[in-house]
Parts: sequence; C-alpha cells; structure tokens
Amino acid sequence: MRYAAITGWGMAVPDRVLTNADLAQMVETSDEWIVSRTGIRERRVVGPDDTTTSLATAAARQALARADLDPVQIDLIVVATCTPDQFLVSEACLVQAELGGSAGAFDVGAACSGFVYALSTASQFVRAGVHERVLVIGVDTLTRHVDYTDRSTCILFGDGAGAVVLEATDEPRGLLSSVLGADGGGHQHLYIPGWGALVPESAALFPEYRPYLKMNGNEVFRFAVRVMGESAAEAVARAGLTFADIDLLIPHQANVRIIDAAARRLDLPREKVWVNLDRYGNTSAASIPIAIAEAEAAGALHDGDNLVLVAFGGGLTWAAGVVRWGDAGACRDPACRDPRADAPRG
Ligand code: ACO
Repeated sequence: MRYAAITGWGMAVPDRVLTNADLAQMVETSDEWIVSRTGIRERRVVGPDDTTTSLATAAARQALARADLDPVQIDLIVVATCTPDQFLVSEACLVQAELGGSAGAFDVGAACSGFVYALSTASQFVRAGVHERVLVIGVDTLTRHVDYTDRSTCILFGDGAGAVVLEATDEPRGLLSSVLGADGGGHQHLYIPGWGALVPESAALFPEYRPYLKMNGNEVFRFAVRVMGESAAEAVARAGLTFADIDLLIPHQANVRIIDAAARRLDLPREKVWVNLDRYGNTSAASIPIAIAEAEAAGALHDGDNLVLVAFGGGLTWAAGVVRWGDAGACRDPACRDPRADAPRG
C-alpha cells in the first residue's frame, strides 16, 4: 500500500514579541488574567517587513532542506491560510514564485483547522499515486486583522508559519486516518466581516473601515472542547488504534483550558500533550506544523511514533488525524526523486 511520509518540516515566526505586559498597556487586562484564562504569555507579531508569503517561504525552505529536496522536485504546493497576502492570486502561487519551480499550487481555507485539512488533501494526492512530493504549509498573520482595542480577542492571536514535505513510501508512515468536519451554521461565531467579495453597501460610507476579526468566545470555547475530544477519538479509531498506542497529542494551540479538556477526554497524561501556546498564542493554521517542528527539535518524535493532530477553527470547522512519524521507505535515491521521472513509483 502507498503512504505519504513526512520527510521534511520547518517553521518561521516573526522576530517581534508582544507580551501580556505589552497588552496590559493597550487594553484593560493583566498578565494574571490572560495566563489563567488562556495559558498564553507572549506571541509573535508581524513587523513591517513580514508578510504571509515571507513567513510561509521561510518555513518551506527549512522543510525542503530537511527533506534534501530542491523546489523544482516538488509536484504540488498546498497552503492552508485564512490570511493570504492577496485573494487573487493564491498564497500558494506567491510562495511558489519565491521558491521557484512549476509545482501545482492552491490554497485551502479552513481557518485554524486548515493545516490538518491541507495535510489530508495533500496525502490523498500522494497515496493515490498522482504526485510523489508535496509541500504543505500552514500560515497565518491574523494579528493584521485583530482589533487592539478589543481585549477579548487581541490577547489570543500571534503570527507564524509551519511546513512539511510529504513523499511516497510503501511503509505505513504519514497520515493514517483523518476526520474532517464543519458546522457552517456556526460561521457567525468567528469571522472577519467585510473582507471578501461580499462588500457591505456601507463600505463607501465608511472608507476607514478595517476588517477586524469578530468572535463569540464562549460559543467557540464550548464547541472546541466538544469537537477536539470527539474528532481525535474518531481519528484514532479510524486508524485502527487505541489511545494506549498514542505517543503524542499535537493539538491546535488556542487555549490551554481547551487542550486540557481534550486530553482529559482522551485520558492522555499531560506529558503526552505538546503545548507551546505560552510563547506563540494562537497562530491559526500555523500552530500544528510549528508544534511538529518544535517537537522534532526537542527530540520528542521518533520513527514509528503515533501522533494525533487535532484542530478546530472558524467555519466552524474541525479536523483530526493520526500521523505515524518517520520517513521509512521513502526513496532517497536521486533517480526516483527526479522530477522528470514520469511513472509514479510504488
Ligand atoms: N482581560 C480581562 N478581562 C477580560 C478579558 C481580558 N483580556 N477578556 C474578557 N474579559 C472579561 C469579560 O469582559 C468578562 O467580564 P464580565 O464578566 O464583567 O462581563 C469576563 O472577563 C469573563 O469573560 P469570558 O468571555 O466569559 O471569559 P472566558 O473565561 O470564557 O475566556 C476566552 C474568554 C479566552 C476568549 C475564551 O472564551 C476562549 O478561549 N474561547 C475560545 C476562543 C478561540 O479559541 N478562538 C480561536 C478559534 S481558532 C480560529 O479559527 C481563528
């Protein structure tokens, strides 16, 4: 059987740090409130020279270097984002313009669930034999759409990018199962009004209008606690595993209370749960691939480990999957990584 192993990974965050103390100077809040209600201590925020494209490209270059691949060897680029630098063209095309090559390129929009949606989509191309090497990026710069006078949202978000490279293998590696879901009826609980083709008629009357993120925090919180546990459990069952087989849970990093509730539901001890939101806040589609890159750098991922990825986000959407870590069976021979080779292997 053909699988899509993760053979490269990388991450990038802006240099600028925004601490809870900084936010307490801007809105009526405190470090104590933010830490106790969310677990977040600081986040990275784009500066004048950072763009969605620059962060995505930096993460992609790391992932390609790790996989020992040149961009021209990539067949397809899939970017998960809800903050593309432009809507026409896709963010994936902007990244490809930086990297070079002629890979197919398109975006996936599922807000904070986007990376798991994109990983699932990209894995199907590899597993079906359509493509050999696919670059998957999760990137968001939501702080550009955060209202820094709204204390209920401005404390939550940070910016960043993470990327992985998928390559064909005959060994069971990469995404073994996935669960994708959405409740479109809940779209109004988390959205950016007036940012898209549906321009409000009042736009002409309010030229200063900025499209800021709006959120019903309590509603999203309740939704998140429910779907994180349910979808992770379903992904594990679909992979034919039980929670005793799981080595690490890598959840979307939105709120430590949501993560703790999901871990309790899955009966996983805290040491099997990767948490880095204290340093990055909620980086939306970037949070899971950033966590993967950090977990690998910390020596927490070993060949054959079973990881559960689980996310929720605007849409409302949710997504979960079991990934078996390692690149066993992926071809390292330059001959079978030649982009001109027309016959798919395996
Ligand atoms: N500092 C101090 N007080 C605050 C702050 C703040 N930053 N924000 C809100 N408060 C106040 C509220 O005004 C309220 O005061 P009141 O009782 O006088 O009205 C009180 O604190 C409690 O407010 P709640 O909203 O009930 O606080 P809660 O404990 O629910 O935490 C939070 C709010 C952190 C937003 C939580 O609801 C949450 O994390 N929700 C999920 C949000 C999320 O994860 N969104 C990302 C989705 S992913 C994507 O696709 C982008």
